[in-house]
Amino acid sequence: MLLGVNIDHIATLRNARGESEPSVIEAAKICLDAGANCITAHLREDRRHICDYDIFSLKNDLKCKLNMEMAATYEMQKIALEVLPYACCIVPENRQEVTTEGGLDVVSQKDKLAAFVKPLLDAGIKVSMFIDPDKKQITASSDIGVEYVELHTGSYSRAFGKKNEDEEFSYLKQAASLAHILGLTVNAGHGLNYSNVHRMNEIQGINELNIGHSIISRAVFVGLDNAVKEILNIINKS
Ligand code: PXP
Repeated sequence: MLLGVNIDHIATLRNARGESEPSVIEAAKICLDAGANCITAHLREDRRHICDYDIFSLKNDLKCKLNMEMAATYEMQKIALEVLPYACCIVPENRQEVTTEGGLDVVSQKDKLAAFVKPLLDAGIKVSMFIDPDKKQITASSDIGVEYVELHTGSYSRAFGKKNEDEEFSYLKQAASLAHILGLTVNAGHGLNYSNVHRMNEIQGINELNIGHSIISRAVFVGLDNAVKEILNIINKS
C-alpha cells in the first residue's frame, strides 16, 4: 500500500507564529525520503494552514508528486489547472469544521461535479472523490468519470476498539469491493493512526492511504522521518 502524507499541520504549526518555521517543503522532503509515495495538502478556502505559496512551491520547487485536496469551487479549479498537481482529491468543505467531517455528496450533485472535474481530467490530473463508504456514492463517482475514490475512514477510526468497529470496517470492505468491480482505484484516509491503520491490510486492493494528523503528532516525539517509517512498517505488513 502506498502512503500519502498530509502535511497540513506542518503549516498549522508554522502559521501559529506567522513566520517560516517549520518549513512545509523541508517536511515534504523528509516524508518522501522516508518512503512516502506522495505529499497531500489541502488548500482550504480560508487558507488556515496550507497557502497558495505552499502548493506552488511543492510542485514547482520540490517537484513532488502532489495530491491537492480541494473543494469543488472555481477558485480551486483555477489554481489546480495552474499548478497541475499529480492528483486532486475533491472534498466537501465547511468553514466552521475543524477537519473534513464527512464525505462529498456526489449523488446529489452528479452533473455539477462531472462538469467540474472534466477540465482537471482533460489536463491529465488524476481526480478522486472523497466519499463515505456508501454504495450510492461509489456508483455516482464512477458515473462522473473519475478513476479514483478516497474512502472516508473517519467512522471506522472513531469506532476502533468499540463495539461498532467491525460494522464500520465492513462498510469500508464492501465499498472497496464495489469500487473495484466498477474499475475505480481505491484510496482511503482520515483519522487513521498507529493503532487502527493495520486493519486496512485486510481490505484487498487499497492503493494508497492518506494520513496526516497522527503522523505529524508522532513526529513531535520521534521525528518526522521515524514517524513516516513506523507507519509504513505497519501498512506494508500483510
Ligand atoms: N484524506 C482527506 C481527503 C482529508 O481531508 C484528510 C484531512 O485533511 C486526510 C485524508 C487526513 O486525515 P488525518 O489528518 O485525520 O489523517
